[in-house]
Amino acid sequence: MRILVTGGCGFIGSNFIRHVLGGHPGDEVVNLDALTYAGNLENLADVEADYPGRYRFVRGDICDADLARRLIDDSQAVVHFAAESHVDRSIEDASTFVRTNVLGTQVLLGAAHRSWTSGGGQDQERRFVHVSTDEVYGPLALDDPRGFAEDWPLNPQSPYSASKAGGDHLARAYHHTHGLPVVVTRCSNNYGLYQFPEKLVPLMIINALNGRELPVYGDGLYVRDWLYVLDHCRATDLVLRGGRPGEVYNVGGGSEQANLTVVQEIIRLVAECTGRPAEQMRGLIKHVKDRPGHDRRYAINAGKIMSELGYRPQMDFARGMAQTVEWYLDNRAWCERVTSGAYRGYYQRMYQGR
Ligand code: NAD
Ligand code: TYD
Repeated sequence: MRILVTGGCGFIGSNFIRHVLGGHPGDEVVNLDALTYAGNLENLADVEADYPGRYRFVRGDICDADLARRLIDDSQAVVHFAAESHVDRSIEDASTFVRTNVLGTQVLLGAAHRSWTSGGGQDQERRFVHVSTDEVYGPLALDDPRGFAEDWPLNPQSPYSASKAGGDHLARAYHHTHGLPVVVTRCSNNYGLYQFPEKLVPLMIINALNGRELPVYGDGLYVRDWLYVLDHCRATDLVLRGGRPGEVYNVGGGSEQANLTVVQEIIRLVAECTGRPAEQMRGLIKHVKDRPGHDRRYAINAGKIMSELGYRPQMDFARGMAQTVEWYLDNRAWCERVTSGAYRGYYQRMYQGR
């Protein structure tokens, strides 16, 4: 099938495209990406040559309805990753989040609806996979024994998660109202290769390598369920091929960790790889002013995708983190390039004097 992937030049999208092209020789991918600060053509530099005739990049905005319609007319499935994805940026300015995550999602859903009904009834062989997030459920108390289940009410607390909840609601509304074959995934925090260094894991790896402060928000006891990006790609692929229209599937890594534990593990691994003393790097940890409205904990119950689609995370946290640290060590030129330019201004605004 031909799959339209949105946001394929970002972290998860680029890993997903490589996963699909490598694992499904009959599939073709069209990648629609606006190349915002988070999108990087270099993330897929090898793909065109490795899979001749099966991959095409289109630079464009998901809010462009004519472009979306043309691309969806030609596709059997949409996997929608494109988003503004960083909570701290959404606190600074939420406008692009609403535009891309709410309006952009509606534009794609509308285009799919019109395109896939043009021959009469809604074509149920098609699939629209909307990639949402566990953050739409809002925070969970540290001592709450439950993990989020799919029927948990949405209670987003940051401008980012509120905008993602808007897209998530719209995706399911297009199924209920129009019968559009939508499937929604809600996954936990991803880590792995090609993640933009504004997020916790790559930021800490790069700062530890460069001997810079390691800025831990508040007490550092915020908990996330860490999911290796390739496990997320496998899960998304299972949902694309086997998910039931109208359903939501949670995806987790089965690995809840406090931020401080993640940072300590990164320090241990960087020390192991570089021979630098871990103690010295531990001294770089700085507890800084907390993120406003910081969600204490997210925890996923992934029972549904496990029992229905046979999903199992294959990577444990220690191994996944070791591979991630090694990748960032081996790809310092990539890190230098993506953090040059506008990112430097962002870093100063976010961290200087914090
Ligand atoms: P990312 O920020 O790395 O990449 C986003 C991509 O979308 C970039 O390539 C960017 O250029 C593109 N994009 C942004 N606005 C666009 C627009 N208007 N039109 C076209 N392209 C546009 O994000 P990511 O971490 O890869 O996340 C992908 C998806 O997964 C997002 O929807 C995010 O909400 C969701 N998600 C991410 C995580 C995580 O831990 N990273 C966890 C749960 C859910
Ligand atoms: P992040 O990677 O931004 O993902 P999200 O906010 O979507 O979960 O942050 C993960 C956790 O790490 C979150 O609790 C905020 C915290 N954090 C820090 O302590 N310091 C930092 O510099 C960053 C970017 C995040």
